[in-house]
Amino acid sequence: MKVYETRVCHSAKAVWIIISEWMDTLAILMNAKAYMLYDKGKFISICCIKNFKGAQELGVVITTKPHRGKGYMSHLLRYVLPQYGTLYLICLPHLKKYYEKFNFKKIPRKSVPWQLKRAELYNVFARLFNWDEIIYMKRK
Ligand SMILES: CC(C)(COP(=O)(O)OP(=O)(O)OC[C@H]1O[C@@H](n2cnc3c(N)ncnc32)[C@H](O)[C@@H]1OP(=O)(O)O)[C@@H](O)C(=O)NCCC(=O)NCCS
Repeated sequence: MKVYETRVCHSAKAVWIIISEWMDTLAILMNAKAYMLYDKGKFISICCIKNFKGAQELGVVITTKPHRGKGYMSHLLRYVLPQYGTLYLICLPHLKKYYEKFNFKKIPRKSVPWQLKRAELYNVFARLFNWDEIIYMKRK
C-alpha cells in the first residue's frame, strides 16, 4: 500500500470521486491537500485536509465501494492524522463511533469555528425531510 500526497485539482480521480460521491465540493474549490491510498497500483481511498485561517478540517473521507470494510481508511487515517494538530470534521451520526476510534470527539455547535458552519444548510433540509442531522467532531 502506498499513500500519495497531492492537491485535489492535480488529480482527476480525486475530483471525480468528490463529485460522484456527493462529497464536499469546497475541497475542489480550495484545491485542498489530498491523501490518496493505492494498493497494488489501484486507487482505493482518499481523504482531504481543508485549511481555513484558524482551523483545519478533515473531509472527503471515501473508500471506493468494492473496497469498503477492509481497513483501508483506517490505514490512511493512521498515516494522515499524526501529521496534524487540531482537526475538525463534519459527519452524520452513524459515523461517530468510527471517528471516535481515531480520537475525534463530538463537540457542541457553539464551539465550532464559523468556517465549518457552512454545512448547517444541510440541517435545514434534515429537519424538513427527516434526515439525520450532521454532527461536529474535533481531535486534540
Ligand atoms: C466511511 C468509509 C470512508 C470507511 O472506509 P473503509 O475503508 O470501509 O473503512 P475501514 O475498513 O477502515 O473501517 C470500516 C468501519 O467503518 C464503519 N462504517 C462504514 N460505513 C458505515 C455506516 N454507514 N454506518 C456505520 N458504520 C460504518 C464500519 O462499521 C467499520 O467499522 P469496524 O472497523 O468497527 O468494523 C467508507 O464506508 C465510505 O467511503 N463511505 C461512503 C462515504 C462516506 O460516507 N464518508 C464519510 C464522510 S464523513
